[in-house]
Amino acid sequence: MKVRRHRRNVGFQWCYFSFVALLSLAGFQSACRQRRRPLYAVIPKAQAHIYWQAIHAGALKAALEANVDIIWNGPATESDYAGQIAITEDFISRHVDGIEIAPTDRDALVNAIRRARDAQIPLTVIDSGANTEDYVSFVATDNYGGGVIAARRLAEILKGHGNVAVIALLPGSGSTTAREEGFKNTIAKEFPKVKIVAFQYGMSDRSRSLAITEDILTAYPTLDGIFASAEPGSIGAAQALKERGLVGKVKLVGFDTSASLVEDLRGGVIDSLVVQDPFRIGYLGLKTLIDARAGHTPPKHIDLPPTLVTLENLSQPSIRVLVSPDVEGYLH
Ligand code: BDR
Repeated sequence: MKVRRHRRNVGFQWCYFSFVALLSLAGFQSACRQRRRPLYAVIPKAQAHIYWQAIHAGALKAALEANVDIIWNGPATESDYAGQIAITEDFISRHVDGIEIAPTDRDALVNAIRRARDAQIPLTVIDSGANTEDYVSFVATDNYGGGVIAARRLAEILKGHGNVAVIALLPGSGSTTAREEGFKNTIAKEFPKVKIVAFQYGMSDRSRSLAITEDILTAYPTLDGIFASAEPGSIGAAQALKERGLVGKVKLVGFDTSASLVEDLRGGVIDSLVVQDPFRIGYLGLKTLIDARAGHTPPKHIDLPPTLVTLENLSQPSIRVLVSPDVEGYLH
């Protein structure tokens, strides 16, 4: 009898002390969370493009100003949806204080975005939309409007008639799909004598974009113009025109900027570039999370205007800042 009572007491004491230990561990963890500097995850679609480096630099600027830390990680390519989902899930399990993400695909990232919400981790979507409203804010360029600008520019330089091709980025990419829609709809509505004879995806890869542009130029020897809806496609299409000796003969309107795109703009390979402000997108994206943590309510949607850059306005200070964002200053 005595032995049984003794064992019951030991068992009770064991449960009691385990409970106390668990409580103090939870308290320690939450104290750690409160004591360390807030840590935000910034997840691009990929890392190589100049565009994502400018996003990174903008987020770093916002982090420095707010005295918080960011951790930067993204897939190697913009088509690696599974890789981006895994990176997002990892940050959720590490319970970061917020997530800024550019979804590689409008649908594939929805569940991960919802899991961040369920884990009560504030999340802001940047650059490309996702088919959910479960975010603090959506900060992006007016991409559809960017496609409209490109269509009007290309039709203008073709004097309202000709055959054109679209070098698209990736199926499912929210930002570029909006541009491509804006371009197609504007050509159809406003320029009946401009015909889109080819529309192909360069899969966010420069060499693929070069190859498909060459195929299109072979299939349509009388092609008059090209619209490339993002950085890799613009670089690949410009390369194809140079290699085929078609500079000035086939008009190219590109999207985004990089040193080589600006050089090709100066050299007449590219007529114009529709340019975004990725530095500001990265900056504002993180700022919405910092503001939310401070109890403010950031706008649900922040639209930044695209800018048409041509030889004529390239030297203006406001344009120079856009085509050469201060990346080195932050990513040294
Ligand atoms: C391109 O992908 C898009 O999501 C960005 O806006 C940029 O135009 C970079 O590859």
